[in-house]
Amino acid sequence: MKILFVGDVYGRTGRQMIEDYLPKVKSKYQPTITIVNAENAAHGKGLTRKIYRQLLEAGADMLTMGNHTWDNREIFEFIEDAKQLVRPANFPEGTPGTGIRYITLPHNTQVAVINIQGRVFLPALDDPFRVVSQLVDEARQKTPIIFVDVHAETTSEKLALGWYLDGSVSAVIGTHTHVPTADERILPRGTAYLTDVGMTGPYNGIIGVQRASVTKRFLTSMPVRFDSEDGPGQLGAVLIQIDEKTGKATKINRILINDDHLFFD
Ligand SMILES: [Fe+2]
Repeated sequence: MKILFVGDVYGRTGRQMIEDYLPKVKSKYQPTITIVNAENAAHGKGLTRKIYRQLLEAGADMLTMGNHTWDNREIFEFIEDAKQLVRPANFPEGTPGTGIRYITLPHNTQVAVINIQGRVFLPALDDPFRVVSQLVDEARQKTPIIFVDVHAETTSEKLALGWYLDGSVSAVIGTHTHVPTADERILPRGTAYLTDVGMTGPYNGIIGVQRASVTKRFLTSMPVRFDSEDGPGQLGAVLIQIDEKTGKATKINRILINDDHLFFD
């Protein structure tokens, strides 16, 4: 089976890239399931009910989130009913939503999708290592096919989680920094790993944001409003092939679409 995972969809440009390219990418690579990180989908910050539906209609089977989960208050109205959404599992106990969900394939095979958030240079949450290993133990009672989106700032924390989970999950894929890394590999015990899949959003912004505002903030240290950059888009994704019986990854390939990396059907 194949999992297609699409990196952080950022604002209108990111959503447009999903509309324009996700169907083409799916028909080219034929993934069994598609997972999309949506924590920046509404104007860079959070998710609305309408966009939740749009992303599913465009071909996502499950959405993952991150540090911007609560930035659009609409989420409080629908997160408990959003059966195709996971938010970081290590948010404190009592937080709405869940950090693990299952996708059932036609022949009854289950795929566990886990979202976890790093703690380095991000808000202090529960320990991602301990929380994820508890969830993995729980998931392995049902299925060996387990996908983990690690939403974190530093390469070291993501790498540490990758190695920590090697052999117990099918894939550990990083999100949040929006810049794709080129370190995709299968770790020795069969876990596919990539530090960051790269965002799906404005190609000529600074991690999606208008260049002028980000530069102004660096130059003046004054608070500035962060809006999405206009212009062409990018789509960052990864395709992971997994042995359904063992849950081990057999192949991992990055997918990058932008003006410098054109897509061919
Ligand atoms: Fe993030």
